[in-house]
Amino acid sequence: MSNRRFHPEQPANFAFNAENEAWARATIAKYPPGRQASAVIPLLMRAQEQCNGWLPEPACKLVAHMLGMAEIRVYEVATFYTQFQLSPVGSKAHVQVCGTTPCMLRGAEAIRDVCKRRIHDEPFHLSADGAFSWEEVECAGTCANAPMVQIAKDTYEDLTPELMDRLLDGFAKGQPPKPGSQTGRTASAPAGGTTTLKEAALYDGSTVGGWRVKFDERIAKADAAAAAAAAASAEKK
Ligand code: FES
Repeated sequence: MSNRRFHPEQPANFAFNAENEAWARATIAKYPPGRQASAVIPLLMRAQEQCNGWLPEPACKLVAHMLGMAEIRVYEVATFYTQFQLSPVGSKAHVQVCGTTPCMLRGAEAIRDVCKRRIHDEPFHLSADGAFSWEEVECAGTCANAPMVQIAKDTYEDLTPELMDRLLDGFAKGQPPKPGSQTGRTASAPAGGTTTLKEAALYDGSTVGGWRVKFDERIAKADAAAAAAAAASAEKK
C-alpha cells in the first residue's frame, strides 16, 4: 500500500455541474436530519467521476461544506479508500493491481511487471500518451480468482502476463474484454472444471424426487404404526 496524498497540483476550485448538483441535493435529502454526513462517499464518487476519474482537494472541501462536515473528516474518507484517486489518472484506464497475499501467491508480481512495462515504472504516473496509470492496492475481494486487477468498477480475474497485455490492448482500442474471469471459468468454480457433485441426477430433479418418495414412505409407515398402536390401546379398554 502506498502513501495516499493529494496531488501537489490542484485546480483553484471545484463546483458540481448542474446535473450533478441536482443529483447531490437529492442524495443528501435521502438521509434523516443530522445524518447528512452519510452521503459523503456517494458525493465524493460523483465528484471524482466529474473530474475525469480523480478527486481534487477543492472537491473534498465543497463536499465537506455541503454536508456540514469538518474538512479533515472528508479528507480522512478520501485518503482511506483506494476507490478514490488523489492524482490524475489515465484517460482510458487506471489499473489497480491487487498485491495482497492470495494474489501475490498466484502471480501478482508478474501482473505488476506488465503495468511497469506498458504504463510507467512507478505507480501513479501517467503513461507517455496519458491513456493509462496504475497502482497497487490491497485485496479487492476476488481472491478465489487471483491474480486480479480492478479498473473503474469492474474486476478482471485469473490473469496471466499475456492476458494482462490483452486486457490493456482492449482498453487502448476502446474495446475492453468482459469483466470477471479472463480464462472463462464461471465465478469462482474450480479452474480445471467441477471436481465434486458431478452426478447428473443431482441436477435433473430425480434425486429430489427420490428423496420425496422415501420421505412419504416414512411418513406413511409412522402413520400406520400410530394407528395400530391406537387400535391396540382401544382393544385393551
Ligand atoms: S488477495 Fe487479491 S483479490 Fe483478495
